[in-house]
Amino acid sequence: MNQESVVNESEVTSPEIILSVRHLCKFYGINRLAARKMLQEGSGKSEILQETGVTVAIDDVSFDVEKGKIFTLIGPSGSGKSTVVRCINMLQCPTSGKILFEGSDVTKMNRHELHDLRRSKISMVFQGFGLMSHRDVLGNVTYGLEVRGVDKIERERKAMEMIELVGLNGWERKSTGDLSGGMKQRVGIARALCNDPDLLLMDEPFSALDPLSRRDMQFELLSIQKKLEKTIVFITHDINEAFKIGDTVGIMRDGRIEQLGTPENLALSPANDYIKEFLYGMDRTKILSVKHIMITPSCLIHDHADPHTAIREMNENNVSTAYVIGRAMEFIGVVTLNGALQARHDKLPSVLSVIMRGVPTVEQDVMIGDIISVASDTPFPLAVVDDRGRLSGIVSRAAILSNLS
Ligand SMILES: Nc1ncnc2c1ncn2[C@@H]1O[C@H](COP(=O)(O)OP(=O)(O)O)[C@@H](O)[C@H]1O
Ligand SMILES: [Mg+2]
Repeated sequence: MNQESVVNESEVTSPEIILSVRHLCKFYGINRLAARKMLQEGSGKSEILQETGVTVAIDDVSFDVEKGKIFTLIGPSGSGKSTVVRCINMLQCPTSGKILFEGSDVTKMNRHELHDLRRSKISMVFQGFGLMSHRDVLGNVTYGLEVRGVDKIERERKAMEMIELVGLNGWERKSTGDLSGGMKQRVGIARALCNDPDLLLMDEPFSALDPLSRRDMQFELLSIQKKLEKTIVFITHDINEAFKIGDTVGIMRDGRIEQLGTPENLALSPANDYIKEFLYGMDRTKILSVKHIMITPSCLIHDHADPHTAIREMNENNVSTAYVIGRAMEFIGVVTLNGALQARHDKLPSVLSVIMRGVPTVEQDVMIGDIISVASDTPFPLAVVDDRGRLSGIVSRAAILSNLS
């Protein structure tokens, strides 16, 4: 047990980078030298296209993907997302730059090595599913193993395992034409996983699905990923999808990555107006947790404080609620200004009997979206407590509401 935790800790401290993209460029067109020169001189994408006939699809893109994580790229149509993924498995040949996958530069691989790479190391899932209509579900899922020469019993055993994993048990003999969009994409995912790839490339895999099956599939993908710990490069043009799925998110514009970071980083500190505009449509309540918006309570009192002190504290801080804590900072309850005034009127020695106990509290890792209703039912800022019940902050209704999009 101890041994295991030591191993895990060292994994956490030194993440393994499985894919490293460096200064990747892809130009479509003949006159690429002229295009590069214009790019270096600061010309824009449309100007370059007009002058040289060259499309700058990707311009100096660099990023790292950690083993076992999901890296998402997001950007408007035409911003270069598909070209990036298609370069990773060399369906497109980059104009310049390096793509180091498990330490080898895929741009330098020969045909044989590339064949091997696509068959056994990197699988792809497409938006349009790409299933073979003359084969049933099982036939589609086993296909990759079949071309690798795996025998029938073994490949069907493995395929059934994957079919079960994506929740299509009982559908293996159905024709793919009988399936809904969501189910077709489950087949697409099972097929990609059947090769047991080290890296899964997914180019807008859920964009063709209706919103409900899309949400199901996002959930499904996250639970599959948790089980198999696959590394995934995931392309989308939906900001909420990118933030829900990605450990790291890159936001693209005109062939460049404008900003790269965790969803929280991006939500809290967008680098420029483009990013801000992009983030505008996203639901911040599903990305930000209580710890991001909580503040230090300005009015703290002890449970034996006398009513005069409580009233003075609240007046000085211009608030109408005091947070009551015990000796070890443990949260006890709140005293309202009215309660304290009543206690003073009744000449009570302390606020003890006017403390409201049992008021709702939240923990700091809870998503903002999950506390909206508690917060609106509670007439004062919610107390944030740690796992030992100690008060670590408060979160106001205003702070929560200002993060609703
Ligand atoms: N095969 C191609 N030939 C010429 N231009 C292309 C080709 N593929 C993509 N492009 C252009 O490259 C740019 C990036 O395209 P793409 O990578 O498909 O963007 P996205 O996936 O973000 O929509 C676009 O301007 C597109 O028109
Ligand atoms: Mg695309």
